[in-house]
Amino acid sequence: MISVGLSQIGAGEPLDTAKVLSFQTCMTSGCHGGAGLDRGAYNIWRNYDPHFDASATLTNGRSSAMARQLGIENAAKSKSCTVCHSPMSQVPPSRLAEPPEGHQVDSGVSCANCHGPAENWLLSHTRPDYPKDALARLGMRQLGSAYQRANNCVACHQNLSDELVRVKHPPLIFDLDGLLVAEPKHWREGDGFSAAKTWLVGQAVALRETAAQAAREPGERRTAEIEGIRALLKVTGAGWDDSGKDLIRAADEFAKRVSGAPMNPEQSRAILFKLLGDRTPFQSEAFSGVAQEYRSWSIGYYAERLTLAIDRLNQSLVASGQQGLVAKELLDPLFDAAKPPESFDAVTAAEFVRKLDRVLKSAQGR
Ligand code: HEC
Ligand code: HEC
Ligand code: HEC
Repeated sequence: MISVGLSQIGAGEPLDTAKVLSFQTCMTSGCHGGAGLDRGAYNIWRNYDPHFDASATLTNGRSSAMARQLGIENAAKSKSCTVCHSPMSQVPPSRLAEPPEGHQVDSGVSCANCHGPAENWLLSHTRPDYPKDALARLGMRQLGSAYQRANNCVACHQNLSDELVRVKHPPLIFDLDGLLVAEPKHWREGDGFSAAKTWLVGQAVALRETAAQAAREPGERRTAEIEGIRALLKVTGAGWDDSGKDLIRAADEFAKRVSGAPMNPEQSRAILFKLLGDRTPFQSEAFSGVAQEYRSWSIGYYAERLTLAIDRLNQSLVASGQQGLVAKELLDPLFDAAKPPESFDAVTAAEFVRKLDRVLKSAQGR
């Protein structure tokens, strides 16, 4: 199984012994605590990024209710929650650098949780000429490619354990491009950035992680989700092929391959048309590998991700200066029709397909 225990800083990474530095080390005005994009990473994160406050969530009413159902005394102190909401508290004290005087160790999702433990690269990374691969060897996590980012973000944004599902933690649907759009960015994307590629890599990594989670905690709900994402990758026509292969490996290799190749707007457009036009996953014989009573869940998982995909791919066309294919007046009803997978029955599915047909027709007319 692929090791992605990235929310626990350093796990499985080079230099597992490097000390983890808290954000106060990064926030001085000469470093990342200035104004604007170039020097303002700290302020953007501090003032706008949901990660800064992620641990405060564990003290709200909804968290207390979940904790009670789980028999946990305090969500803010329980590993079941802090692993994602307050990951610095998971770092063994011996690996934490003392925060600067007068400060406490960070409580939210902090710089180090995405950029890696900084002890060994803190000095070198201020030199503009210092090679990135050398920084990577010193433990700076590389986040430039879609694949690298997916591996980082997915650690906290896809897999919920059965017990968290049972107490109704909000469902996590990993959609890398959507997350990157929603996060207030403290960086600029380079020229080769493709939102559509980012989306596709994210779906493959979501599949990999769900398959890995199913190996740990199998269940019909997970199988239904896996089959839903698999169907989506297949429909894209982007070369997904998992016949006779280990699913975790196939998804990982596909993600890596897509991430490493350029994707132009024509390719994104072609994928969008495939997704709008293919009705195979809505037919009764689709998902025959899923237990009868869970097949409608697979269709629901498919519809949910399909709707997000249409939105992301359409936005990516607009962002690259092309005309979008889907008008908002047609997309909103599709979002309304994409009910939670567990309540997706034949009637809901028929309604969804009707709305999808309308979107397709309008896109063909553009
Ligand atoms: C696998 C990582 C992960 C774990 C473990 C986890 N969460 Fe979350 N949690 C998230 C993410 C990511 C979100 C944001 C979901 C979104 O908005 O789409 C979230 C959202 C929430 C929300 C809703 C946001 C809000 O402001 O009310 C609450 C409440 C919450 N989590 C509480 C908990 C509690 C309590 C636990 C432990 C019992 C827990 N979480 C465990 C990742 C996790
Ligand atoms: C949720 C994950 C996350 C957190 C938390 C986070 N970053 Fe980032 N950061 C990123 C990503 C992703 C990039 C883009 C990297 C790339 O494209 O190479 C980035 C880019 C940057 C860059 C620009 C690097 C460049 O080469 O352009 C700086 C500087 C930076 N982050 C500093 C910080 C600081 C300081 C903090 C804490 C105050 C922080 N980051 C917190 C994910 C994160
Ligand atoms: C260490 C765990 C962790 C990592 C790594 C992480 N996140 Fe999060 N993220 C969270 C938690 C927890 C929340 C929920 C915050 C709250 O309590 O409201 C969250 C919330 C968010 C939200 C707002 C809720 C939503 O779903 O729209 C966005 C956007 C987001 N994360 C993007 C990213 C991106 C992009 C990356 C990778 C560059 C990333 N995250 C990496 C833990 C993480």
